[in-house]
Amino acid sequence: MSKATHTAQQYWDVRSDLFANYYKKPSLFDKLFRKAVYTRTAVALKTIKEYGHCTILDIGSGPGVNSVTWLKNSDASHLLGIDFAENMNEYARKNAAAESVGDRCEFVTGDFLTYNFQGQVFDVSVAAGVLDYVKEAGALVQKMDAVTKKAFVISWPLNGLRMALRRYRYTCPVYHYNEADVRGLHQGCKINSLEIIPMQGGMVTVARK
Ligand SMILES: C[S@@+](CC[C@H](N)C(=O)[O-])C[C@H]1O[C@@H](n2cnc3c(N)ncnc32)[C@H](O)[C@@H]1O
Repeated sequence: MSKATHTAQQYWDVRSDLFANYYKKPSLFDKLFRKAVYTRTAVALKTIKEYGHCTILDIGSGPGVNSVTWLKNSDASHLLGIDFAENMNEYARKNAAAESVGDRCEFVTGDFLTYNFQGQVFDVSVAAGVLDYVKEAGALVQKMDAVTKKAFVISWPLNGLRMALRRYRYTCPVYHYNEADVRGLHQGCKINSLEIIPMQGGMVTVARK
């Protein structure tokens, strides 16, 4: 087992190009073994499109490739991305400008768990590929519920071989969940339904209000 010597912030701050290329220049390995990355993007886009001219909060927005995909393929009015890795945000800002959606989005640096949104709420919020790195999953879900008006989308990695390999390769802590964990973590949320969609190595959930 590799030792977790970095925080998630340190780990991701040096991987903006690497992660962006899973979308922009996918290798055969990515296409075969990182299908979850593409599935969760698609589920989030479908959810965003349900709400027309909506606002989006992209939690752990990373290189912002998803943010651009969602803006370009929906009628969303504005997207706020938040990530605690500043290099990810720099990449995301440049990418959004290059893709001509820079005027419809903003990327801020901060930890979602402690960031003060000053009462701002969003129609749809998404945490794609984020719970993998969050120890305080319950606090994150409760805060997503609090800042979301219509629906929130979260991806969840399962335990298994893939997770064992990640624990070996990654130098930051990683976490996993089963369906009972996911249902339990949504208890107490002000939602009408919880859709659970299986995907390679995990699940993606859509909590609708
Ligand atoms: C695997 S990347 C996923 C990026 C993007 N959501 C995507 O799916 O393409 C995870 C990102 O979440 C960010 N992150 C993890 N925990 C966070 C937190 N508590 N607050 C803000 N960003 C966080 C990391 O810095 C990293 O950029």
